[in-house]
Amino acid sequence: MKSMHKKMLAVCVGLALGSGLSGTAMAASAPSLSVINWWTAGSEAKAMHVLVQMMKAKGVNIQNDAIAGGGGAQARTILKTRLMEGQIPGAAQIKGVEIQQWGHTGLLANIDAAAQAEDWNKNVPAVINDYMKYKGNYVAAPMDLHRLNWLWYNRAILKKSGIATAPQTWPELMADLAKVKAAGFTPMAGGGNGWMIATEFDPIALETGGPTWYKDVFVKLNPKAIDSPTMVKALERLRAIEAYTPKSLAGRTWNFDTALVAHGKAAFQIMGDWANGQFEFLHVTPGGPQVGCVAFPGTAKEFIYNVDSFIFFRQNTPEKRAAEIKLAETMVSPKFQLLFNKYKGSIPDLMNVSLNGYNACQKKSRAQFLVARKDNGLVPSFSQNMSTYGPPTGAFIDSLDKFYTSNESPQAAAAAMAKRVEVAKSQD
Ligand code: BGC
Repeated sequence: MKSMHKKMLAVCVGLALGSGLSGTAMAASAPSLSVINWWTAGSEAKAMHVLVQMMKAKGVNIQNDAIAGGGGAQARTILKTRLMEGQIPGAAQIKGVEIQQWGHTGLLANIDAAAQAEDWNKNVPAVINDYMKYKGNYVAAPMDLHRLNWLWYNRAILKKSGIATAPQTWPELMADLAKVKAAGFTPMAGGGNGWMIATEFDPIALETGGPTWYKDVFVKLNPKAIDSPTMVKALERLRAIEAYTPKSLAGRTWNFDTALVAHGKAAFQIMGDWANGQFEFLHVTPGGPQVGCVAFPGTAKEFIYNVDSFIFFRQNTPEKRAAEIKLAETMVSPKFQLLFNKYKGSIPDLMNVSLNGYNACQKKSRAQFLVARKDNGLVPSFSQNMSTYGPPTGAFIDSLDKFYTSNESPQAAAAAMAKRVEVAKSQD
C-alpha cells in the first residue's frame, strides 16, 4: 500500500505540473467533478441527486460515480486504480480513520476555505469534525450522521406472532424470533455477504460487551479483548441470529432485505439507518403503521455512529479547485444537509438544522445522539470503517464471514480473529 501511494502521488503530481496550458480551454465549459461513492440503492441515488442538482445551480457538473457494493469495498478499490491511472476524482467517499491514511499520500486538497464559510469547527460536533482534518487542515467534508444500532420490524408479522411490543433485551429478541418462526414467518432478513454479517455483528458485539470492551477490540485492537470469553459470547449470539436467517438470503443486498421487511415477507432486519431511507423510498414510513424501529436490544443508551464523508483531491486547474471548494461548502450547508439526510435516512451533522419533515426514527436518532454524547455512549462503527484503518477492518470482516459461512466454533473464530488482526496491524 505504501508503494502504491508513492506511485499514485508520482502520477498525480505529474499531471498537475503538465496541466498549465489546458486551463483556459477548460474555463469555457462548466467544471466537472467526479464524486466516487457506493450509493446505488434507490434512496441513496435519490439523496445524491440533491447534491447533483444543487451543484448544477452553482455552475458545477457533478458526475455521480456510484460503484455498487454496500460497505464500499469495490468503490475503494476502483478509487485506487483510477488514481494509479492518473484519473483524479473531485471527491471520494472515505470515512473515519482512513481519512488519516489518505492524508499520508499527499494527494488530498486543503479545504479549509470551505470549512470557514460554515464554521465547521463550531457547528459540527467534535466527534465528527476531528476526523475531517489531517495535520490540522480540513481534507474531508461530512454529509450525514447514521446510527447503526437499530432493529427494524414489520408490525403486522409481530402482531400475528403474538408479540405486543418490540424486543428491548437480548432474551426478548430470542423469544420473539422463536415466536415469529412458530407462526410460520421468516424471522430475520440478513447475512447477504461479509459486510452485512459484520454490520449485524456490530450492535451484537456492543450489547454483549458494552462500549469499553467494544473500543478495546475495534479501536485499540487489543488481542486479549479480541480473543476473549466476551468475543466468544458475542459470536454465539451471531450464530443464534444466523439460525433465524434463511440461507437463501446469502448473496442478497441489504436493500433487498429492507424490502422483505417493508412488504411483510420478513419480521426483522438489523441494519444502520440507511435502511430507514430505503423504507421511505418504498413508501413505508418507519415509525408509522407498517414498520417500526427500536434501538438494537440492550443498546438503547448507545449510539454506534457512521459518518459518510468525502475526501478531496488536489486538482490540476484553478476552475476545478474553485469547484471543489464550492462542493465541500455545499455538502455541509444547512440547506443541503436538511434535504439530503431526509432521503438518506440519517440526520444532519449540523445539530442546529431542524428535523422538519423527518420521520420518528430520525427524531429518535438525534435525541439519542445528544444523550449518548453527554453520557459517553458514542461508539465508532467498526463495520463501517469508522473505528480503525483498512486492513484490521478487513480482518474483522473476513473472520466474521468465515465464521458465519462455516461451522467454525466461536472459540476458534475468536482466536483466528485475533491472529488476523495482528497480521493486519503491520499493513497500512
Ligand atoms: C454507508 C451508507 C450506505 C451503506 C449501504 C454504508 O457503509 O456509510 O451511507 O448507505 O453503506 O450502501
